Amino acid sequence: MTKKLPVVVLISGGGTNLQALIDGAAADLPIAIRAVISNVPDVYGLTRAAKAGIESAVLNHTQFASREAFDQALMQVIDSFDAELVILAGFMRILTPEFVHHYLGRMLNIHPSLLPKYQGLHTHQRAIEANDTKHGASVHFVTEELDGGPIIIQAKVPVFADDTEDTLASRVLEKEHIIYPLVSRWFAEGRLSWQNHQVVFDGKPLNQPLLLDEDIVQ
Ligand code: GRF
Repeated sequence: MTKKLPVVVLISGGGTNLQALIDGAAADLPIAIRAVISNVPDVYGLTRAAKAGIESAVLNHTQFASREAFDQALMQVIDSFDAELVILAGFMRILTPEFVHHYLGRMLNIHPSLLPKYQGLHTHQRAIEANDTKHGASVHFVTEELDGGPIIIQAKVPVFADDTEDTLASRVLEKEHIIYPLVSRWFAEGRLSWQNHQVVFDGKPLNQPLLLDEDIVQ
């Protein structure tokens, strides 16, 4: 059996991606979620952690004098759990360069768009307004550029004429709940890494993102 990789999951909200990881870990996903940390108090993701018997912590960013001070404190809390991978799952914070460097190559993010399209917020609304016929989600290693790190995998969904932000978001979330556990598994199994500014997958440089349902058939 593969050793379970110790991970910490950072959230700011409802935590459906966290739940997908919790459910995966309860099955055969080889990660051990050591802690869930939220920058927002009382979010439902914290309840999900409690229900799963996972330790959690709240670091309320509004209580810190600066972004740097918050990130320093967050690093200390994360590192107290000896995590080998930091998983940002709806963690709505811009990170300082120091924080990013500290976890370079061992921090993942999921973003609800087909990056490089729609970095930042309101991705679903922007896809609808642009009359896109395809939208989706991307998992990437975190670098200093917001939502700009090397992409590992993307999943596409159709955009329908009558879609609202909510209907589109929930279609994308279904895919997020597939690709985030998948990427976490690859990282835990040593199939995925980031070396010398390059994503390496199964021993080879990954020069373009994998595509769920095309490159990776479930
Ligand atoms: C997801 O769409 C994720 O991609 C984005 O924020 C949302 C978080 O959803 N970064 P949840 O908290 O995992 O339900």
